[in-house]
Amino acid sequence: MKITFLGHACFQVETAGKTLLFDPFITHNQLAKHIDVNSLKPDYILLSHGHADHMADLETIQKNSDAKVICIADIAGWLGNKGITNLHAMNFGGGFNFDFGRVKMVYALHSSSMPDGAYGGNPAGFVISSEGKKIYFAGDTALTLDMKLLADENLDLAILPIGDNYTMGADDAIKACGFINCKNVIGMHYDTFPVIVIDKAEAKQKFEKAGLNLTLLEIGASEEL
Ligand code: NI
Ligand code: MN
Repeated sequence: MKITFLGHACFQVETAGKTLLFDPFITHNQLAKHIDVNSLKPDYILLSHGHADHMADLETIQKNSDAKVICIADIAGWLGNKGITNLHAMNFGGGFNFDFGRVKMVYALHSSSMPDGAYGGNPAGFVISSEGKKIYFAGDTALTLDMKLLADENLDLAILPIGDNYTMGADDAIKACGFINCKNVIGMHYDTFPVIVIDKAEAKQKFEKAGLNLTLLEIGASEEL
């Protein structure tokens, strides 16, 4: 499993011969100017919620690739009205076996509406099982006790927001690691906007002190799991 950070909450995961793209927000991200959105040809796009900083490039990439979009049912309806027909609607607690592995949609504590103000259902996270590994992509979320439901999932990696202000910050993300019983974290949702600029060295130190491993990838860089 190869995980590539494309800035903010956008990750590309290559696994079982398929390419998954999470929360595409690239062309409007000042830090991701070197990423060519037209070079992305995923098989699947997983969308956590309807905010523009998670889906600004979704339509472009979906049209370039005909990727199947996996998202909550309410957003699938909205995307369908935009002419996107390759959709897989899910809802909380539900899992589905795709050709690359299993996706389970889990709760995220945040808000959600579409860029045009339409109802976006509730924000979500995903647990992905593929190639014998299990990863948790939390989406935008606060620390929430529901995370304890993941404690026995034997997660190999958690992709957690750490930027504070709109989501949990590093201190709550460290508590989240206890709830989900996972020591291996890739951080997301930091530095993109002035209010979520963080001290990265300090965040790494805090995780290390708690016996956890926080990886902060350069935009465009990859990690093998
Ligand atoms: Ni959001
Ligand atoms: Mn966001």
